[in-house]
Amino acid sequence: MTTGVGAFLETNPLRAGLTRERAAGPCSVVIFGASGDLTRRKLVPALYNLHLDRLLPAGFALVGVARRPLSDSAFAGAIRDGIVRHSRRPLDLDLWKEMAPRISYVPATFEDAEGYRRLADHLARLDRERGTGGSRLFYLATPPSAYPTIVKNLALAGLSRPGAGGSFARVVVEKPFGRDLATARTLNAEVNAAFDERDVFRIDHYLGKETVQNLMVFRFGNAIFEPLWGREHVDHVQIAVAETLGVEGRGEYFEEAGIVRDIVQNHMFQLLCLTAMEPPVSLRPDAIRDEKVKVLRALRPVPAERALEESVRGRYGAGASGGSPVPAYLEEPGVAPGSRTETYAALRVLVDNWRWAGVPFYLRAGKRLPKRVTEIALTFRHVPHRLFAGAGASPNANTLALRIQPDEGITLRFDSKVPGPEPRIQPVAMDFRYGTSFGQEPPEAYERLLLDAILGDSTLFIRRDEVEASWGWIDAIEAGWAASDAAPAAYPAGSWGPAESDALIERDGRSWRRL
Ligand code: BG6
Repeated sequence: MTTGVGAFLETNPLRAGLTRERAAGPCSVVIFGASGDLTRRKLVPALYNLHLDRLLPAGFALVGVARRPLSDSAFAGAIRDGIVRHSRRPLDLDLWKEMAPRISYVPATFEDAEGYRRLADHLARLDRERGTGGSRLFYLATPPSAYPTIVKNLALAGLSRPGAGGSFARVVVEKPFGRDLATARTLNAEVNAAFDERDVFRIDHYLGKETVQNLMVFRFGNAIFEPLWGREHVDHVQIAVAETLGVEGRGEYFEEAGIVRDIVQNHMFQLLCLTAMEPPVSLRPDAIRDEKVKVLRALRPVPAERALEESVRGRYGAGASGGSPVPAYLEEPGVAPGSRTETYAALRVLVDNWRWAGVPFYLRAGKRLPKRVTEIALTFRHVPHRLFAGAGASPNANTLALRIQPDEGITLRFDSKVPGPEPRIQPVAMDFRYGTSFGQEPPEAYERLLLDAILGDSTLFIRRDEVEASWGWIDAIEAGWAASDAAPAAYPAGSWGPAESDALIERDGRSWRRL
């Protein structure tokens, strides 16, 4: 008999249909940058959890490629360690015994043509010995500067085409995908010279989050919200990505990026697209991606000379995080003394189309804020005639907040009469929580995305034109900032960002939501 949580899961009608039926065909997954952080923290635990859910094919092999000389068993040991430390579910020894023999390692530098020939031979051998069927997924988990070299060498070694009997050769490219429009275009050209666009999977892990995918279901699977979703009813939209983390030893990378390149251009713009897009005609990958690109093309360009009016950049000083003192950004290892890099940004974005004309989208993202919260909130217009103004009706209008993480859920706030003879009114909330309704932790984003890439489903990956359209908008903001001598506005670590950010939204008679 199943008891407790197990029984709840089996009997909870909301869980019906949650089991995934998709199973992948045989293939090898080759990770370039196999000794890196991303591999250990995200990719390996994701593959293990897919294996645990029996979603990997019987003919499967994982091949690591990196510079360091390592034996297959030493690499498998590192993978095991990654699973033990970072998997959401503990390592099961029987499953590990099945997985370990499928792991191998090819030491090679990314420039070394001979290394790719060895890789090609190795993959052909796996096809024979492990039944991987000639299909390959190459995952670029390296510094971005290595991407062009790797894709070029893969093509030269004949690896951008499937092996004998195989059905695909695909490449997964991690962000950052370029650092501006010009570099993104060059990189796109280099990648597309080696792989067809349909075989290029540009990853943005936010799209793998369950709550982000639910945005489409919420909007287009329910009849009641969509009629309210636009300028007639929505006053403005706020999107926030707040993190308590600092740059976590990635000072050098962050110096080159800043929060706008690190988070806004990709993760936040994806949230913006999914919030603002029109209903796609179908769930085909291109039908959805077409609609997202239309949103990006409708963003009102901000001329560089107006960037400082429409945006705020901030940088954390010393302060506290989780009750402990933390250093200023400028004191972090790898940060240049005269740095102008921002760790916080607030932007006012307008979407010039029929649905959103005149509705501002306020975006804010920051490191070392007081809480980790990602949220999209629509604030609705006030009623046209305030009958209850004298009864304490809140000055806040109705809001619909989609909590992407943590405490994933959706909350609708509205006014209600307080019981009793007095005509008193108070805001209350109608709440949906994933944890309560579905009784299970959502899988990690990388699980879904790796499986989709193996299956060849590009819906949750970024298309070439999408990447270019988003950089096009960001470039002007970056150019405006670069032209200014001013340092980013200061905020203490552990606060909600600089005062200038409050001023940006208050200028329009609105304020940031309390997160
Ligand atoms: C990454 C950024 O893409 O996303 C990090 O490079 C950031 O700086 C991270 O911390 C946030 O991801 P998540 O899933 O924790 O919200």
